[in-house]
Amino acid sequence: MSEPSRASIRYLSSGRIVEATGFAPTATLLDHLRLTRGLTGTKEGCGEGDCGACTVALGRLVDGRVVYRPVNACIQLLGQVDGAEVVTVEDLSDGGELHPVQAAMVAHHGSQCGFCTPGIVMSLFTLYEAGEPVGRNDVLSQLSGNLCRCTGYRPIVDAALEACDSRPDHKPADAFAARAAETAARLAELDDGQDVFVGSPDRFFAAPASIDALASLYATHPDATLVAGATDVGLWVTKQLKDLPKIIHVGRAAGFNTVSIDDAGVTLGSGATFAESRAAVAAIDPDLDEIWRRIGSEQVRASGTVGGNIANGSPIGDSPPALIALGATLTLRRGTTTRSLPLEEYFLAYGKQDRRPGEFVASVRVPKLKSDQLFRAYKIAKRYDQDISAIMAAFRLTVDTGFIREARIAFGGMAATPKRAAAAEKALVGASLDDSSSWTLAIEALARDYAPIDDMRASAAYRRDTAQALLEKALIELAGETTRATRVAGFREGTDERVA
Ligand SMILES: Cc1cc2nc3c(=O)[nH]c(=O)nc-3n(C[C@H](O)[C@H](O)[C@H](O)COP(=O)(O)OP(=O)(O)OC[C@H]3O[C@@H](n4cnc5c(N)ncnc54)[C@H](O)[C@@H]3O)c2cc1C
Ligand code: FES
Ligand code: FES
Repeated sequence: MSEPSRASIRYLSSGRIVEATGFAPTATLLDHLRLTRGLTGTKEGCGEGDCGACTVALGRLVDGRVVYRPVNACIQLLGQVDGAEVVTVEDLSDGGELHPVQAAMVAHHGSQCGFCTPGIVMSLFTLYEAGEPVGRNDVLSQLSGNLCRCTGYRPIVDAALEACDSRPDHKPADAFAARAAETAARLAELDDGQDVFVGSPDRFFAAPASIDALASLYATHPDATLVAGATDVGLWVTKQLKDLPKIIHVGRAAGFNTVSIDDAGVTLGSGATFAESRAAVAAIDPDLDEIWRRIGSEQVRASGTVGGNIANGSPIGDSPPALIALGATLTLRRGTTTRSLPLEEYFLAYGKQDRRPGEFVASVRVPKLKSDQLFRAYKIAKRYDQDISAIMAAFRLTVDTGFIREARIAFGGMAATPKRAAAAEKALVGASLDDSSSWTLAIEALARDYAPIDDMRASAAYRRDTAQALLEKALIELAGETTRATRVAGFREGTDERVA
């Protein structure tokens, strides 16, 4: 790591800078708030990122402006909040006066036992601070990671709409807005560009400030656990009670979360969260917007990264099938050496990825769709929000005068890894989108591509039947699209829009 490094983390809280040092590498933000600082307004419910009782807001500078996002403090590691403003429910009322979201919750009887209320209020606080016009669907999406077991959601939604959407100009009018410039200046001060290293060489929490420092530290400690958003790793700590003696947090490395768009595609820095990358992938295809929108909850999307979703090698991660179908390429780095490979080649077997000791996922390159390419992606889960997929399906077809010239099909939840459907892809070549009888071989071939398992999310038979139905659904929908495409000049080209 470059010198000098800092042996503490610092964050802004209630207008003052809090410095923490000597903490355990896996100390959680929730334990720090409740047990060390006595801020017991933030509650612990599930301890695994599902219920939202522990929601706090993290304020960070984005293009010079303070942006607040909700996170689950139970699975956020303390070290991750270096450089942020941490806002808890204790901070909301101003001189004894309730914050507008709190006042609306009271007015609409949005609380009964009150256990979920601090988390709900903090989620609504971040919606309020965003200062955008808010509709019912925005509120439902915002609250998708907050469970209430007793009040029922209608009064809470009513309160949210009143607090967040009733201002004519939608601009936040609270103490946070009033001191936004001062907060921005203090956050800028905290960003000192120093590497963070808390602990000893055998037991540490480290947060390198640059990608080079990250690469060098991980090459020196290939046995360390990388942490990006901790929406997976946090559960190893709270549920599996794993001792992770060496943690390297990738989230402070400058530029690691960069999202860049050019004429041919989108490059997502591995540290880009789902929230940060959603607009860029949505510009490739609206189905990606929907997939990104359905990952976990607002809290999970605010912390969880695309790099973590790929690196963890899960067969049921939502982004890999869509990215594989689009022909994405992964870049890995170890020390000063980088290499790239097609994303599908990264997944070798269950729990085994093509990643060498000390090597990390640096970025993923996603090509845009060409004018003769059509795309569909579907997530099948028991619930719309906050649920892991039973099946994730993605299809990219290259079409020439209605005939399929090339097919890329990838599924999650159907095998031990996210996997392409080689037999179905082959059988689709030459099929006509206008003739459903020419699809039969491909739909049948799908049954040879996968041997899915029975588990709590779905039976093997359900998975097989649904996968075949999804391929047929995609073909039906895309057949309608090409018909329109031939009628409408400039379809997709220059616009990236699907014709309605
Ligand atoms: C309540 C809840 C709901 C969820 N819902 C969904 C869902 O709907 N869909 C879905 O796909 N997932 C879901 N997840 C899982 C999780 O949010 C995702 O897998 C997320 O993308 C993980 O990213 P992260 O940044 O939090 O990874 P982390 O937890 O920080 O890390 C995950 C793994 O990747 C490794 N890692 C992280 N970054 C790198 C890197 N740059 N290079 C190499 N290795 C790296 C870590 O060492 C670890 O092994 C959910 C999780 C929770 C808690
Ligand atoms: S305690 Fe349930 S999400 Fe954190
Ligand atoms: S008010 Fe009791 S859990 Fe929501």
